[in-house]
Amino acid sequence: MMRILVLISGSGSNLQAILDHCASGKIAGEVVGVISNKADAYGLVRAKEAGVATSILAQQQFASREEYDTALLALMADYQPDLVVLAGFMRILSGDLVRHFAGRMINIHPSLLPKYQGLHTHQRAIDAGDSEHGASVHFVTEELDGGPVILQARVPIFAGDEAEEVAARVQAQEHSIYPLVVRWFCEGRLQMVDGAVQLDGALLGPAGYASE
Ligand code: GAR
Repeated sequence: MMRILVLISGSGSNLQAILDHCASGKIAGEVVGVISNKADAYGLVRAKEAGVATSILAQQQFASREEYDTALLALMADYQPDLVVLAGFMRILSGDLVRHFAGRMINIHPSLLPKYQGLHTHQRAIDAGDSEHGASVHFVTEELDGGPVILQARVPIFAGDEAEEVAARVQAQEHSIYPLVVRWFCEGRLQMVDGAVQLDGALLGPAGYASE
């Protein structure tokens, strides 16, 4: 069984989707820990309900980003993860930490990367007049929201949509694609090779698997 460590900052709905897929046996892995940088993250409640160990590492305890990330790396290593899943973890990670977990750390971002890296992605897509939007699962590299894409899901944007409506539509898709990618990884089917993604030994294109 692969050891999965999930990092969160908030609601943890993606964590829940992954927990559910592990519980039903669809993912050949076990969530061995959940780390949050926010003490009040609802995802911590979800983890406890699933019987998963939790840790809180609040930034206020640390004088600098470097000190925080040094402590975070040590805490993460304690869980001996095979895979690190960033699920709404709203912190930028240092290069040292990212390099340490290269090829075994993934993130989900609420846009069709490379579009809309960073924050407020739904509003930015609406403001740009886009008719479609989505979510991307990617390997984490030192470039923020810039690592190679594994899988994307697309959703429409309708005239008059508010950002909250688009966000809900995107999140529903996230809950399908993130567990699927975790499943692939746990089955040993997914690798990052020279900054690109391989699934079953075949290189994926810039939009990841089966983008069309
Ligand atoms: C998700 O929609 C995820 O795409 C986003 O945070 C949300 C977390 O929701 N991540 C980012 O914006 C990362 N840049 P959740 O806590 O309910 O899983």
